[in-house]
Amino acid sequence: MANVAVIGAQWGDEGKGKVVDWLASRADIVVRFQGGHNAGHTLVVGGETYKLSLLPSGVVRGKLGIIGNGVVLDPEALLSEIAKVTGQGLSVSPANLRIAENVPLILPLHPALDRAREAARGGDKIGTTGRGIGPAYEDKVGRRAIRLCDLAEPETLSKKLDELLLHHNSLLKGLGAPLFEKQPLFDQLLAWAPQLLPFSEAVWERLDAAKREGKRVLFEGAQAVMLDVDHGTYPFVTSSNTVAGNAAAGAGIGPDAIGMVLGIAKAYSTRVGSGPFPTELHDAIGQGLGDRGREFGTVTGRRRRCGWFDACMVRQGVKIGGVQGLALTKLDVLDGLAELKICTGYRIGGAVMHRLPAAMAAQAAAEPIYEVMEGWAGSTAGARSYAQLPAAAVKYVRRIEELVEAPVVLLSTSPDRDDTITLRDPFAG
Ligand code: GDP
Ligand code: IMO
Ligand code: MG
Repeated sequence: MANVAVIGAQWGDEGKGKVVDWLASRADIVVRFQGGHNAGHTLVVGGETYKLSLLPSGVVRGKLGIIGNGVVLDPEALLSEIAKVTGQGLSVSPANLRIAENVPLILPLHPALDRAREAARGGDKIGTTGRGIGPAYEDKVGRRAIRLCDLAEPETLSKKLDELLLHHNSLLKGLGAPLFEKQPLFDQLLAWAPQLLPFSEAVWERLDAAKREGKRVLFEGAQAVMLDVDHGTYPFVTSSNTVAGNAAAGAGIGPDAIGMVLGIAKAYSTRVGSGPFPTELHDAIGQGLGDRGREFGTVTGRRRRCGWFDACMVRQGVKIGGVQGLALTKLDVLDGLAELKICTGYRIGGAVMHRLPAAMAAQAAAEPIYEVMEGWAGSTAGARSYAQLPAAAVKYVRRIEELVEAPVVLLSTSPDRDDTITLRDPFAG
């Protein structure tokens, strides 16, 4: 089975949606395996822009989409996203979307706790999307989550709600936030049941059948390695494992099915929330990258922080994430810059390091060591072959390959689906 797993190699928003959409034309099934509606994946097809948060990006290609058990699912967000894309002419029904029956749900009390906690942290806030992702994962590992399958069992639901409310109301009270009552939540869950249960199934069985039939599965990661709850810039991370290794557990299939791991990286760096960002630029160049790259969060609307490409960090992400090939996106945003910098290591205290250490203060103190490269005067925007790229742009891409120790197999040169240069077909393994 020639499958592909797509993961972010930086801090998210690398262009995973565009790449997944592009690859989906050659896949049979697209599976989300972690994260939730904290993700914002933008797809541009012809003139139309689709912004997806929960739906697997393959739905735009008319492929079967699966939301795996590793996701945290907000029913309200899902139903409104389905309504939104239906308004754009797509059709989403149980015929092309299946949801793991054991997926944990995000309820209104989760974003309430997320926001109350962020407010309490003040200046030390994580900068979460405020969508309840962290609290929902906490409930999952705390064994008190309400899962999709519970909607079919009102008695179970009632008991579980008691336990959940005891936990959440204690926390909310401590934080001085408004408490939740059982009945409105119970009524809401029962109202969602007939809308959601038709999508619910044991998706592992479907994936097992797909495996036997030799179908191609594309695993669509959200967030990125540096936001991984174990391997990222903790605690400034999301609450799931974003690495490809989690695709198996988050979908219900063996690790042998993951196939080729494709890491997506921007030709520079961005970050939305708080936390360390060694190559961040606070000058006109950073401002220019943000303007040209339209770096505004899809979910939060916040301006993304921008900086130079950090090869040291991406190399770390390549190793930890098991990335076998890179898709390099937004090369066009660098057009016209006289010189470019690539971070090859860090100076921390008196020491030089070629990895980002795990400790918080050390991460915050990391000063980038740069290699300077020549920019290019010509345009890469919309290029569809290597031959169309200025020589200095090719040199930049080659240097990135050497430094991160992974081949660039795809190059993206505009938001449009078709402006993509293929150097190697990821489905070829
Ligand atoms: P994701 O979260 O990784 O799916 O990325 P987002 O969709 O949040 O952010 C990436 C943004 O860059 C979107 O607005 C895309 O339309 C856009 N984009 C993707 N690839 C390219 C590219 O090669 N060039 C330019 N200029 N924009 C791109
Ligand atoms: P995609 O899939 C960029 C960031 C938030 C915050 C941290 C924790 O579009 O790349 P959370 O709400 O998950 O608890 O927030 O993670 N974050 C993202 N940043 N892209 C994303 O998704 C993100 N999802 C979460 O900004 O810093
Ligand atoms: Mg995004």
